[in-house]
Amino acid sequence: MVKTAVVYYSSGGTNYQLAKWAAEAAKEAGSEVRIVKAAETAPQAAIDSNPAWKANVEATKDVPEVKPDDLEWADAIIFSVPTRFGNMPGQMKNFLDTTGGLWAQGKLANKAVSAMASAQNPHGGQEATILSLYTTIYHWGAIVVAPGYTDPVTFGAGGNPYGTSVTVGQDGKMIEDVQDAVKHQAKRTVQVAKALKNMES
Ligand SMILES: Cc1cc2nc3c(=O)[nH]c(=O)nc-3n(C[C@H](O)[C@H](O)[C@H](O)COP(=O)(O)O)c2cc1C
Repeated sequence: MVKTAVVYYSSGGTNYQLAKWAAEAAKEAGSEVRIVKAAETAPQAAIDSNPAWKANVEATKDVPEVKPDDLEWADAIIFSVPTRFGNMPGQMKNFLDTTGGLWAQGKLANKAVSAMASAQNPHGGQEATILSLYTTIYHWGAIVVAPGYTDPVTFGAGGNPYGTSVTVGQDGKMIEDVQDAVKHQAKRTVQVAKALKNMES
């Protein structure tokens, strides 16, 4: 059975929701799934000063923190991150920077990897964030599985072919309805992981 790790970081809960939709779809596509989060690196005082952030930390306290082992275990990896000035958050970069050992042994090569993102503005850096995350994936020798326009759901979700992305309003709610696009992306990533696994055996 193909194994999928859904790896996210979220301070307001949006990317946790995207991760849960991706996990559901990966399971429906016949994959074993782990949802794991990048460890928090912000000071507790910063979290405490923001009620939404504090509530999300509390709501996700039982989600395991991602470890390099989760990536080694997985055939498919789906990332979900909020933008930070057009880049992934430091929390996720911090984790990616711990993957040198796996990379050096070639253990990340040929995995199927896809990414999703959110931002507060419709053009606030979602595409750049996904593309910047993919740069690391190319260095791993993994296979980037972008949704492209392989299903009409992408158009309804704002048309980002690099990966599903969403705009988060001031109230913290998602503006576009992206659930189907997330599910299509996750299913496609699992399908490519299956094909890659067959290729190797
Ligand atoms: C330091 C920082 C930088 C941010 N930079 C941007 C930005 O450049 N453009 C934008 O639209 N939103 C920006 N945001 C808003 C976040 O991307 C938004 O709150 C996030 O996508 C919500 O996802 P979450 O609920 O999973 O945390 C920034 C937020 C923070 C804290």
